Amino acid sequence: MSNLTNIREAQPARQVPPGPKGYPLVGLIPRLMRDMMGTYREAAQIGGIVEMDLGMQRAYLLTDPELIKHVLLDNYRNYVKGEQLDSIRPLLGNGLFLSEGDFWFTQRRLMQPAFYRPKLSGLADVMVEAAQMVVDRWEAQPPDQPVNMMYEMRQITQSVIVQAMFSTSISREETIRAGEALDYALLTLVERSITPFSMPEWLPTARNRRLREALATLDEVVYRFIDERRALVSRTEDGYDPTGDLLSMLINVRYEDTGEGMSDQQLRDEVMTMFLAGHETTANTLTWVWYLLSQHPEIEARLHAELDDVLGGRAPTFADLDTLAYTRMVIEETLRMYPAVWMTGRQSIEEDVIGGYTIPADSMLMLSFYFMHHDPTYWDEPEVFRPERFSEGGAQDRPRWAYLPFGGGPRVCIGQHFALMEAQLVLALIAQRYAPRLVPGQPIDLRLMGTLQPKEGPWMLLERR
Ligand code: HEM
Repeated sequence: MSNLTNIREAQPARQVPPGPKGYPLVGLIPRLMRDMMGTYREAAQIGGIVEMDLGMQRAYLLTDPELIKHVLLDNYRNYVKGEQLDSIRPLLGNGLFLSEGDFWFTQRRLMQPAFYRPKLSGLADVMVEAAQMVVDRWEAQPPDQPVNMMYEMRQITQSVIVQAMFSTSISREETIRAGEALDYALLTLVERSITPFSMPEWLPTARNRRLREALATLDEVVYRFIDERRALVSRTEDGYDPTGDLLSMLINVRYEDTGEGMSDQQLRDEVMTMFLAGHETTANTLTWVWYLLSQHPEIEARLHAELDDVLGGRAPTFADLDTLAYTRMVIEETLRMYPAVWMTGRQSIEEDVIGGYTIPADSMLMLSFYFMHHDPTYWDEPEVFRPERFSEGGAQDRPRWAYLPFGGGPRVCIGQHFALMEAQLVLALIAQRYAPRLVPGQPIDLRLMGTLQPKEGPWMLLERR
């Protein structure tokens, strides 16, 4: 008998992990509805793997790097995104974020090359121009007029993703129309997924009607782009799209087994996925950067010194990215404190053992990057904003899996280089001219709807440097 078998027999997996106490029948649901962050925080403090009693369902919260690695990498084949994300399927369909198994793998392999860092260099100008357009608008408005920073950052990131996908800028009005439809659809669908008792979709309520309208608006915009592009391709001799943007990459793909390209429906799902995944998270991150800088003048001063030194007032380029090291550290530390994807979910296919506990098949797992990023076991003074943690050599004493703003394993964010590059360029351009200040007296509460963002605003004054 091997040693391994001996150990297993000597230490059988325990059955139920510890967890916060819930109410009979409804478990922790009333507490989560009253104070979601507080309830999760209390659970996360138990550490390891924690059972969350959700009334009819049991879920498991993971905040430990090794356990998260187990799910995302070591035994990733046993986990799917699962039913908990079914609510956003009307929006994202079978795109890269939600697809599974062999189909996901094929799509990922086909799309991955377009996201390698050197391939993205051509987008640097697009990113700088999008930020410049917003700055030009700011220059024309009275200096004492506050701006809603989340809204402003979203304008930039929406314009970047639209241009990266379609290499044309759609009109400002249409971008706003599509952006608002997307926000509404996403919020409603995510809310529905976390609210235990919501109205069925088929009921003709005002909310359901508006949701259907929002989805129809998005489809209309996306299918129009696909139709236009198919028409263009039909006029080329070789049947390939020469445009060079993300849509052309999707259109030009041919499946090895059939030699066919993607269907219109699949193109729509991938485009919608890129549009959603590719702008909201980066806008959130930039918003948190401005908030944190406004609260830490000494860090802001160091950032300004680097920008003045490296750029001396000119616009940043792709070639500056490696030199703007502190700018990048500010973004990395912001992603530690406020990871836009604060939690992700998985569903087990078969029974597994995690952290010494038996996890039944079909269990719901919640992997919280936010709480792991705030755990004093891995982070010295985790509530302190300190970009120096990400200086060269600064990361040596912590486990690699303790920092996962882009997730990990095979399903790690495909857009991570895109996002970091965009955040770095936008921050470098704007911080050369402005030191945004928080309008006083504003509470900064967290909104935990899919992504981590401020509940309101934040409203900021655009102080010129
Ligand atoms: C700061 C910005 C961003 C953050 C924090 C972020 C975070 C993440 C995380 C944590 C995941 C993994 C989710 C999971 O395993 O359940 C993910 C997946 C994904 N992200 Fe991002 N992301 C960002 C920007 C982007 C951008 C710019 C794009 C596209 C242009 C993008 C496209 C995707 C896609 C398509 C997936 C699914 C990948 C797959 O399953 O194969 N993301 N992102």
